[in-house]
This record gives sequence, C-alpha cells and structure tokens, in this order.
Amino acid sequence: MDEKEKVNPCIIVIFGATGDLTWRKLIPALYNLYLDNWMPEKFTILGLGRRDISELQFRKTLLDGVNQFSRSGAADKKQWASFAKNIMYQKGEVHEKGTYDAVNKKIAQIEKAWKVEADHVFYMAVTPDFFETIARKLYQAGLGRDKQRDKIVIEKPFGRDLDSARKLNKLLHSMYDECQIYRIDHYLGKETVQNILAFRFGNLLFEPLWNRNFIDHVQITVSEQLGIENRGNYYETAGALRDMIQNHILQLMCLIAMEPPVSFEANEVRNRKVDVINAIRRIAENEVHNISVRGQYKEGWIEGKKVKGYRQEADVKPNSRIETFAAVKLFIENWRWHDVPFYLRTGKRMKETTSAITIQFKDVPHRLFPSKASGSWPPNRLIMNIQPHMGITLSFQAKRPGLEMVLDPVDMDFDYKETYTTGTPEAYETLLLDTMQGDSTLFMRADQVEAAWAVMMPIIKVWENNPPVNFPNYTAGTQGPEDAEALIARDGHNWL
Ligand code: BG6
Repeated sequence: MDEKEKVNPCIIVIFGATGDLTWRKLIPALYNLYLDNWMPEKFTILGLGRRDISELQFRKTLLDGVNQFSRSGAADKKQWASFAKNIMYQKGEVHEKGTYDAVNKKIAQIEKAWKVEADHVFYMAVTPDFFETIARKLYQAGLGRDKQRDKIVIEKPFGRDLDSARKLNKLLHSMYDECQIYRIDHYLGKETVQNILAFRFGNLLFEPLWNRNFIDHVQITVSEQLGIENRGNYYETAGALRDMIQNHILQLMCLIAMEPPVSFEANEVRNRKVDVINAIRRIAENEVHNISVRGQYKEGWIEGKKVKGYRQEADVKPNSRIETFAAVKLFIENWRWHDVPFYLRTGKRMKETTSAITIQFKDVPHRLFPSKASGSWPPNRLIMNIQPHMGITLSFQAKRPGLEMVLDPVDMDFDYKETYTTGTPEAYETLLLDTMQGDSTLFMRADQVEAAWAVMMPIIKVWENNPPVNFPNYTAGTQGPEDAEALIARDGHNWL
C-alpha cells in the first residue's frame, strides 16, 4: 500500500493556537503536508486559545503566518481556502473543565459527520507550566484514553532538571501509555539530522573507521546570530545548557556515536541512543570547571547592526547570571569511543549562524612526504553541515598539479541544494506526519530525556552554586568567550 494512504482521519487539537509556534511552525507545516498530499482525506485542526477571536480572524492570522514562513512561499488562494475550511477555533482557558467538554463535543460532532472514529492528536504548543494541567484535564474529560488512536504531543523543555522531568514523566505515565506520548526535539526532524543515520548505516565506507582507532575527536557546534528574541521570561529560567545542549546537541551526539541499530524500528533506534547517553562518563562536580565553559553576551555588532547585550534584553534581570553560551567536553565510556573527546558548544549572538558536526580523524601513522611537500598536512576531516548550509564535506590530501610533489588539502562536497531540486520539508512537517502515522522514532522517550538530564545535572548544580563573576564575558558578534578556546586548546585542538 502507498504510504500516503496510511494516515487515518485525524483531529488535531492545538493548545496554544494563538501562540507563536502555531503561527510560525505548526500551521505552515500542516499546510505544506496538505499541498504535498500527505494529510488524511478527512482532517480537522481545532485551535484552542485564550483570545476572543472568531474562526475567520483565526484563519486570517494563520494565513499571515503561512505567507511569511511557509517554505513554499505565499499561499495559493484556492489551496489555502480548501485547507482552511478544516480549521476551527475554540476560545478556552486550559484550567477550565468547560474547555475540555467543548473539545469533547466538537470531536463527537466531527466524527458523527464523518461517520468514522478519527485519530486524535493533542498538541501542547504552550509554555511548560501548562503541560501538567492540560494532561490531567484532558484525561479527566475522558480524552486521550485510546492507546491506539490518541496521541499527546509535548514541546520542549521537558522539565528543567532531572527531578522535574521525572515528575512529569510519572504524571504522564499515570494516565497515558508511553507509546502515546510524543516529546518533541525538533532537531530530530531536520533532514540533515535524519541523514546522519542514512550516512552512517547506509554506507559501508565509514563505519569501519568510525571509532577510537581512527577518530581523534568530534566537535558539535550550534551557533546562532539571533539573540533571545522576545523570550526573556523563558530564557531567564533556562540558559544555553538547558535550552540547547541537554536536548538538541546531545541528540546529535547520540546519532554520531550510537551503535548500528538492528532495524529502523522506533524502540530499537531509541535504545541505541539511550545506550550512548548512559555511557557518557559521569562528570564529578570537582571537574566541572575543567570540562565546561559558560558565557553571556554584551552589546556588539552583527552584520553591521548594533545589538543589545543580554542584560539589556526585555524581561531579563539587569544582573542576570544566565548563560547564553555553553561549551562542554564529554567522553563516552565504551569500546568504540573510549578517550575520544566530544566537544559541544552553542551560543546566542555569535558571529555566524551555523550548525555543524566535525569528525576529526587521526593523523596518518607515518609521514612519508617531506614537510616541504606537505605543509601542515592536516588530518582528514568530515564535516556534516546541518544548517543553514546543508551538506557533507570530506577533506583529504591531494597532489597539487605540477611537476613537483606538493600536497594540499582539498574538499569533496555533497550539497543538498545542488543535488536535489525537490524542496526540503521542515522539521515540523516530518514530526507532525510521524505523529499522525504513529511513528515515534524521532521523538524523545521518557528514559532518554531523564538520562540526558542526569548527564547535565553536575554542571547545572556547580554552575548554580558558583555564580559567574565575569559576566558578560563575550561581545555579541564574536565566537564566544575566550575560555571556550582554552577548553579545547588544552587538548591541542581548536574549534573548526
Ligand atoms: C529551540 C531553542 O529549541 O531551538 C531556541 O529554544 C533556539 O533558543 C532554537 O533558537 C534553534 O532552532 P533552529 O531550528 O533555528 O536551529
């Protein structure tokens, strides 16, 4: 059967429907799925929000979002009209029982009209303080109880430390089955991130080299020119370690370091990823300062524009100690990776926006060319560019054309844009379709989230107990604090 036929009739209930995520990401993603013929024949998007607006106004705002953010550009009038007739709006407070009764009623009406029992996706596009309430109230209203047909989608952050993540998992498990819970880490939906598995396990070439015998170290960088936008309230409770490293960057590390799964089945893939996190060498509190660096940006210039310092951003305390940059060195204690450092770093208001994974191979065992011929002779390097440039580059030594034997490093490049003419789906398209299809491979399982928090806890604790004395310590528009250079330079490397 064609995969496109497999999605059951579906009602998608979005909590936080008038919020930014719905407008920027969810609706453009659903609209593109619709354009590409992935949506089920029968579907309804039921938006729930606190604003007193009509269905018409709601649809109009969503259309604005699509026009601005959809990867396929401004919406075609006809297509939008036929998509938008499936969108409904319901005003409601998340803590009021009446809201859930109304949802129940709407679902019943829709299914009666369709003459089928539909699947239901309950999407929490809200701030984390509402997760618990919505989960409870849904259940009390008799919603979300069908283990096959009902799914609960939860945005990040999932907890703000190990205890709160455990508590939330426990609460969810008291009502819902793990297989119904879809914890989003949107990085896992990115094409280039999914391609890591294809690259590693769809090819013979690299796997024999993919270990401590050939790889010197791994670097994962996610740097952003953007600041915290309008998210001061959230960011003041998070910081770079919680916001990026505990989730997105650790997940990238898992994909690089995991053992080959036996199949592409959701739990098998996730088991192999959890194995990696569980094998990360536990960080003793007294070594935290040796393996981690934090930073906060002060005002500076990015691409010719002056930008504020973090402490001057809206909803940020004037003496805030929250880090907007974090770098960490981790080791994985297993046969494959023993003693191979993984350097992870992320920062806001950096010089460039770029996410990349660099696999630095070891030096050749014997340098047979004279140094005159080979210059610095850099070891082989494989760079997986996640975004905005999407591709893979392998650098190696080649003979420079000419009568003398001179070696130069050259690049072999795979570039998505040059290779494929078809558009690349947004992460949320993949993740929403997977949710509707009931495929949780790209979602975070309860034990994965908890294991990731467990790795980060010693750093979180030490950082909280020892407030930084030198913040702000990097200028917006630079590569982050100098200490981050020292972190990697101590091992004889530099950030690539
Ligand atoms: C989010 C973080 O999860 O990811 C943001 O909360 C960050 O702070 C964003 O900017 C980065 O996502 P992307 O897809 O733009 O790399």
